Order: sequence, then C-alpha cells, then structure tokens
Amino acid sequence: MSQVLGTTELNTVFDEDSVLKQELLEGLLAEKKYINPKFFYDEAGSQLFEKIMQLPEYYPSRTEMALLEKHQDEIAVAIGENKVLIEPGAGNCEKVQYILPTLQPKCYVPIDISADFLFESASNLQTKFPHVHIHAVADDMKAKVDVPEKFKTNHKVVFYPGSTIGNYKPIQALEFLKHVRELVGKEGGLLIGVDLQKDKEILDAAYNDKDGVTALFNLNVLNHVNKLLDSDIDAELFEHVAFYNEEHCRIEMHLESKVNQQCSIDNLIQVNFSESERIHTEYSYKYTIESFSQLAAQAGLKLENYWLDDDELFSVQYYVAL
Ligand code: AVJ
Repeated sequence: MSQVLGTTELNTVFDEDSVLKQELLEGLLAEKKYINPKFFYDEAGSQLFEKIMQLPEYYPSRTEMALLEKHQDEIAVAIGENKVLIEPGAGNCEKVQYILPTLQPKCYVPIDISADFLFESASNLQTKFPHVHIHAVADDMKAKVDVPEKFKTNHKVVFYPGSTIGNYKPIQALEFLKHVRELVGKEGGLLIGVDLQKDKEILDAAYNDKDGVTALFNLNVLNHVNKLLDSDIDAELFEHVAFYNEEHCRIEMHLESKVNQQCSIDNLIQVNFSESERIHTEYSYKYTIESFSQLAAQAGLKLENYWLDDDELFSVQYYVAL
C-alpha cells in the first residue's frame, strides 16, 4: 500500500493554519456571525458525531449504510469493473467497506486532511481487502488527486457518502459537482449519498435529539474556536438552536447567546454578542431525487440509478459523467 504525505510543505501547513484562523475571525466579526461546519470536527467533536450516528432520531447514517449493504450488487453493476474509486473526506473509511466486496475496484484512493487517522484506517482496510490497491492521500479536495501511474488509464469514480454535500448551499454544491466532473473525466462516475426532503417533524427531531448530543456537538465548536483563536467564549452562555427551514429545504443550526456578553480573542480583539444574537454554524440541505439530479445535470452528470429505503428517508445515487 502506498501512502502519500500531503503535497503541502511545512511552511504552507503554517499558512493553512493562519488561513483557518483568518476564516474563523472573519465569521465572528461579520454582521451576521457564522462558523464554518468544518470546525465541528476536533477530537471531541468527532467523538460526538460518532454518538450522533447512533441516535435513534438521527436516521441518515444507519439508513445509508443499510442501503449500501443491501444494494451492493446493483451498485457494483451500475459502476462497472476496474475502476479507481476516490473518496474525499474518507475519515475512518467505514462506509466504503459495504461496497468494496462486490465492486472490487482496481484501486481505492481515500483522501482526508487528518493524516494519521487516515493512514491508520487505510492500512486496516488494506488487510481486509488485500486485492484492492489502497492509496491513501493526506490532503483536501482542492488539490489535484494523484492516482498511481499504474491506474492512470482506469476510469475514475468519486464516492461521496454521508450527505456531506448537504453542508453546501446549492450554488456551492454545483461547484463541487463540477469539480467532481472535471476530476473523473468523461465516462467517470459519482456515487453519492443525499438526504431527502421529508416531514418537518422527522427532520427537527434528527437535529434536536432528546439526549442533547447534537446540542453538545453544536456547542463544542466554541471550544474548538477557543483553542484555535486563543479566545474565551463561554459555551455555557449559548444555546443550541436547530430547525428545518421549509422555504429553503434546509436544516439550520445556530448558537444563540443567552445574555449580552463580550469575549476576547487572543487578548486583542473584542467580540460582542447581544442577548438572543445567533452564530450560524451549519446548513444541511435536503433534496428530492429530481432536485438533486437537476443540479448534477448542470455539472454534466447524468443520473444512472438510485436506491431508496422503504420510508424514502435517504438516497444513494449514481451518476455518469457526460
Ligand atoms: C455530516 C453534514 C452529514 O448534516 O446531518 C449531524 C452533520 N450536524 N447533526 C448532517 C450533523 C448535526 C451532518 N453531516
């Protein structure tokens, strides 16, 4: 198994860090305050997300895994043989395990920014699937994906499960889909998990679980911000707010200040929060098969097949690059 260290060199790693800080700062000083959802996933946040996936109210993860497992034969037929399977944000490489046995791609390329974690998951996977060449890449999706020379002529398929696409506004989702289309080239493919529009009650419950795990997950982003910015935001003075916005077909998550308060960043910059002011932390867009396939069509991706659970909560969709 080959492991490729990030293409970024040491000094660009530092740059990357200050880019992240700059981005956070901009959000906290904006007229309408926001924190990008990628900041949820520090150590504690990743553990809380693992817990979210187990919640009875949070249907997406378990429904998607059941779909991948149940339809692995059809999925393998739709995708075809001898592919290079590329997974951006692969993390623990958990979901791909449902499709590898039948798909048997020539090569699997998991990509993630947390290098150590990725390389550990990838080598565990390699022992389970000795016949698939696993080529782990520590990087973000913005960089060009380097496929081993040996597999340069094999067709590429991107695997993007988890409804991660829902975090993007539709206009950004379209940019991502265009990027995927570019990356896979003609006759390439995209296997993607997309969460579906449904009754507001089900959606509201999924993001307001009764044990308050999602609330902790949302609030924890403030601890991560404090570490990154050396700030003193008190998570106890904020409240988790999540609801389905039917007009925009999206879950919105916010952190609402319980009081008027002042925080300091790096002992240098003051940030004020007035009572009931909100920091926006996440969108989770919900689609229909039609609405998502129309978006994908604008990126030159044609819906080939899709799979739904009986309650039509979640979808796994396969697209072919035109
Ligand atoms: C990881 C983006 C798919 O939008 O449902 C779960 C994140 N936020 N509970 C989602 C999340 C609150 C999740 N995604």
